[in-house]
Amino acid sequence: MNEKNSLGLNKCFLDEDNPFKLFENWFDEAKKKEINDPNALALGTVGREGIPSVRMVLLKGFDKNGFVFYTNLNSQKGNEIKENPNASMCFHWKSLLRQIRIVGTLKQVDDKTADDYYNSRAYESRIGAWASKQSSILENRKQLLKALDDFRNKYKDKENVPRPKHWSGWNLKPSSIEFWLDGDNRIHERLKYILDKNNKWTKVILSP
Ligand SMILES: Cc1cc2nc3c(=O)[nH]c(=O)nc-3n(C[C@H](O)[C@H](O)[C@H](O)COP(=O)(O)O)c2cc1C
Repeated sequence: MNEKNSLGLNKCFLDEDNPFKLFENWFDEAKKKEINDPNALALGTVGREGIPSVRMVLLKGFDKNGFVFYTNLNSQKGNEIKENPNASMCFHWKSLLRQIRIVGTLKQVDDKTADDYYNSRAYESRIGAWASKQSSILENRKQLLKALDDFRNKYKDKENVPRPKHWSGWNLKPSSIEFWLDGDNRIHERLKYILDKNNKWTKVILSP
């Protein structure tokens, strides 16, 4: 018989009142077990038209204030977020048979945070952020390769490539975080944390 936590769930749910601590615990497990990109997540956004769209991004930071990823602010997702800051994230770790779902609102990170992360990236990635008008239509691949060359020429000093204004990070401040564990015969285990009106996290368990 598996060990259980006080809610009768598998002990991997711990007995945490703080969902960020449980996230950290599961994410640490994923870093050990997932073959690559344990920080990959599906990001769901909805623009002005109300049409949802989902794509993968990489988690580049998290703390009690939220979950951060970086992107081009003028991309499809960037424009949708500017129209509607509500968004959702979903992590799926196949090696652990676990999922985490987060709902919240997005805010741009401050310039210093974005600069620090941008400057930690490889030179070619920093050049790519300048050259790629992410999500816009290319006439042909050559157009992009030329833009890459142009920016390599413009920013020859690899230690000194400024961050483009159109490239930054978004922080998702969560209003709910759900942890899911695969169970036999689809009798899965689900624990949902919900932020109440007093800014306190409450926990419920959900039917699979
Ligand atoms: C595993 C994985 C990680 C990715 N990480 C990022 C990321 O951190 N930021 C980003 O802008 N695009 C990332 N992408 C590319 C996006 O999925 C997407 O193609 C791109 O951001 C354009 O999306 P949009 O047109 O909805 O704006 C990643 C793709 C994959 C498969």
